[in-house]
Amino acid sequence: MALHNDAPSPGAPPPIGDLSDLAALSTWAEQRWPEPVRAMIQDGAGSNATVQANQQAWLDWSLRTRVLTDVSHIDTSVSVLGRKLAAPILVAPSGLHTLAHPRGEIATAEGAAAFGTTMVLSSGTGTPMEDVLGLDGSSWFQFYWRRDRGTLREILTRAVALGAEALCLTADLPVRPLLGERMRYAVGHLPGGPPLYVLDRSAHLSGGEWDHDARVTWKDLEWLRGITDIPIVVKGVTTAEDAVQAADNGVNAVIVSNHGGRALDHGRPTARCLTEVVDAVAARSDAPEVLVDGGIRHGRDVLIALALGARAVLVGRPVLWGLSAHGAAGVHGVLEFLRRELESCMGMTGRPEVKDIDKTTITEATR
Ligand SMILES: Cc1cc2nc3c(=O)[nH]c(=O)nc-3n(C[C@H](O)[C@H](O)[C@H](O)COP(=O)(O)O)c2cc1C
Repeated sequence: MALHNDAPSPGAPPPIGDLSDLAALSTWAEQRWPEPVRAMIQDGAGSNATVQANQQAWLDWSLRTRVLTDVSHIDTSVSVLGRKLAAPILVAPSGLHTLAHPRGEIATAEGAAAFGTTMVLSSGTGTPMEDVLGLDGSSWFQFYWRRDRGTLREILTRAVALGAEALCLTADLPVRPLLGERMRYAVGHLPGGPPLYVLDRSAHLSGGEWDHDARVTWKDLEWLRGITDIPIVVKGVTTAEDAVQAADNGVNAVIVSNHGGRALDHGRPTARCLTEVVDAVAARSDAPEVLVDGGIRHGRDVLIALALGARAVLVGRPVLWGLSAHGAAGVHGVLEFLRRELESCMGMTGRPEVKDIDKTTITEATR
């Protein structure tokens, strides 16, 4: 396998407004990035099976169209944890934004705020969290459960003091993931080393000491509640059993996620886990809000996620493509591109408001 650091020159980034789909932006980014950056962002665990399955699974549904409904005004706005967003699309937490753009997470936060959505700041941020949280706009803070509770408490207290609106515990990496050849190479060859501000070293994937506390259970959320009363979000829930645990333990939102295929190779695609999670808690008055991420590449995927019961989706890699191409404007551009596609699909299916999107909006695709 040819592994190299020299990126071929792909030319100027395409204006996002001129694209017919986001795949062209992915292709541009892949050509622009040096191989370790490309692998670190685009790849997943093992053979990339989950990465591919995530995208494919949204295509298992077709849209059912209602006609002669008034779609002269289409409203994509939605509220998530009490905050109104321009569309049911949030920025997923991902580390390493400084690999995609010199202004890193600051530019991402500006793009998300200009669009009108929440950015989930990763604890693998390449920019000090002091410079990102508290910028105009809405942010949640994502973290892994570190072994040292004192350090964990200090990090979370700082995030809350800086204005984080929710704490998002990522639960799907209890042990180190098994990486494929390209990702292993990438970990050791990132330009300038792993630029992680909140964590001391790149234990996140490989290399350094693994600092995720594998002893953590649902009961430990009580300790978290002792630190803050802002909403708690658990990311990485994919089963009915865990959805019930989340509700029983007072979790405010769950994200159906498999870490964009970066944790477990041959995991289930998130589109296939969503109904199970939604149905498990739907009848409860204390049901957490259910969000989903993984392989969302089109506004149609957003519509399908909502029809399957999600309140909103998060997008990971596409935001990094936009960031790399055009900085803050690129992040805004990608989010707006997805929103416009969603708006078109809502119009075509006769669903002018998000609340009109339900199970009858989709049907299993026949191939
Ligand atoms: C480069 C990269 C870094 C990531 N870092 C984190 C992280 O620090 N914390 C986290 O919870 N998830 C992380 N994720 C997973 C994302 O939050 C999200 O679950 C995933 O990207 C969604 O899939 P998508 O990229 O297909 O949209 C990362 C994903 C990527 C691509």
